[in-house]
Amino acid sequence: MTTEKVNKGQSVDNAITSLDKIKRPYAFLIIQEHFRRYQNTIEIVKELSHKKSNSNAVLIIQIAIIMIYFSTKPVHSIVNDSVEFAKNFKAPGYVNVILRSVLKEKDKFRSAIKEIKIGNEFKRQIIKIYSSKKIHNFIFNSLDKKPVNYQISYLDDTQAIYDKRVSIIDDLKKIKKQSWVQDIVNYECIRSVKKLIKNKNILDCCAAPGGKSFLLSSFGANVDCIDNQKNQIEKFKSNADRLELDLKIKKQDFLRSNFKNVYDCILLDAPCSSLGTFRRNPDVMLKINKNFLKSKNDKQALMLIHASKMIKPKGYIIYIVCSFHMDETIEVIDKFLKKNTDFNVIELQSDKLIKKNNGYFTNPLSFKKFGGSDIFYISVLERKN
Ligand SMILES: C[S@@+](CC[C@H](N)C(=O)[O-])C[C@H]1O[C@@H](n2cnc3c(N)ncnc32)[C@H](O)[C@@H]1O
Repeated sequence: MTTEKVNKGQSVDNAITSLDKIKRPYAFLIIQEHFRRYQNTIEIVKELSHKKSNSNAVLIIQIAIIMIYFSTKPVHSIVNDSVEFAKNFKAPGYVNVILRSVLKEKDKFRSAIKEIKIGNEFKRQIIKIYSSKKIHNFIFNSLDKKPVNYQISYLDDTQAIYDKRVSIIDDLKKIKKQSWVQDIVNYECIRSVKKLIKNKNILDCCAAPGGKSFLLSSFGANVDCIDNQKNQIEKFKSNADRLELDLKIKKQDFLRSNFKNVYDCILLDAPCSSLGTFRRNPDVMLKINKNFLKSKNDKQALMLIHASKMIKPKGYIIYIVCSFHMDETIEVIDKFLKKNTDFNVIELQSDKLIKKNNGYFTNPLSFKKFGGSDIFYISVLERKN
């Protein structure tokens, strides 16, 4: 099932590719809404069912509830199809009873589903990072709003809304020739280090699909790019070709590479939980569990140590993740600095970043007038000698 693929780590986009092409946009919307309102629908099921049922039956009910309130499909066919499908899991009666109870009190459950219920761990992490209630509320309310899509241009663009480089894009098929689609915080993170990187030799060790490499290059850095995933590398190449940039990428595992003393700077845009992209990938909110985070975390720490052994004296490591979880951000850097006393933290200049311990979190409220943003973490470490 598509939701199972997402629970195992795939994005909703990838998970629906096995579906019939015509069904994909509809499936995408329903599955996104399912993850966004997971807490709401699970509470409705709990209210209506006192016996423990199998998880597949519960999932069928949750998706059917979303379809009842968020699609135009006739309710009787939603119920009939769900009951039919539940036969595969020997639970047609159970699914039928619960869905008919929902329909009996359709208005009551409409209010139960309207306001998104946010998981406790998600809330806890946000409150740990930001001290301002205004920021908390802005983030919590952003869950129910369609995120804007930004495009970043390689050169100055007179029509841009931010810093001559970022515009809003309504139709993803109409990207400007010299631009690529990426959230505004990618731009802000690289902008905050632009003075450090000009004319420097940089290794982007997790480079695909390429947005940050293009930014580094546009701010005057000489960039070499590697990534270890074939499909990601294809995306990089097609983006670089479209932008007509002479940037090459090699397929290479950074952890097995040896670039000792070659680079002035290493950009480590590390693989992470992607929690900071919760508005467009609501499934990430359900993945805040210790095992999932630990697998990401171990790799982040290893990559950082490897980068520290490769970087030239007086060189920099730029550590970035699209997450706000303590384990992937502050904890990674604090642990690293405790053991590696030959590294300093560099101060960054941006009124869109908020300092916390040894790094910075992007502030989505500072992009309010453009439509908000994802949440990223950045920390820049300098090797003393
Ligand atoms: C957050 S994404 C990078 C996004 C990219 N910097 C951008 O701005 O478009 C992380 C990337 O790290 C790559 N990656 C993961 N482990 C790696 C490794 N051991 N060596 C090289 N690349 C790796 C993944 O394939 C993925 O493309």
